[in-house]
Amino acid sequence: MLDQPLTLPCGAVLPNRLAKAAMTEGLADPLGSPTAELEQLYRVWGAGGCGMLLSGNVQVDGDHLERPGNVILDRPAMAR
Ligand SMILES: Cc1cc2nc3c(=O)[nH]c(=O)nc-3n(C[C@H](O)[C@H](O)[C@H](O)COP(=O)(O)O)c2cc1C
Repeated sequence: MLDQPLTLPCGAVLPNRLAKAAMTEGLADPLGSPTAELEQLYRVWGAGGCGMLLSGNVQVDGDHLERPGNVILDRPAMAR
């Protein structure tokens, strides 16, 4: 059963029913941009076979981080 595909309501098809839960990484640089280490972590997780990877903390407001090293989608820190 876990190896069976799953179609989400949006139409995306997951290749299996295994999912990595969201886990904070703290691997962005001080400006909130992803680092090579964060890319490598997701490369390893991506190769692990899970049908879905839920990302860790990706903050939409750089003034309200969960911890240093969060990825920030807000305007660049230099402009805040
Ligand atoms: C953005 C985000 C980051 C999270 N980071 C962690 C974490 O670092 N460690 C952890 O144990 N759970 C973390 N969680 C919670 C887990 O992803 C998960 O929801 C929790 O362990 C409950 O799992 P369950 O719903 O399968 O019981 C995070 C959740 C979110 C939404």
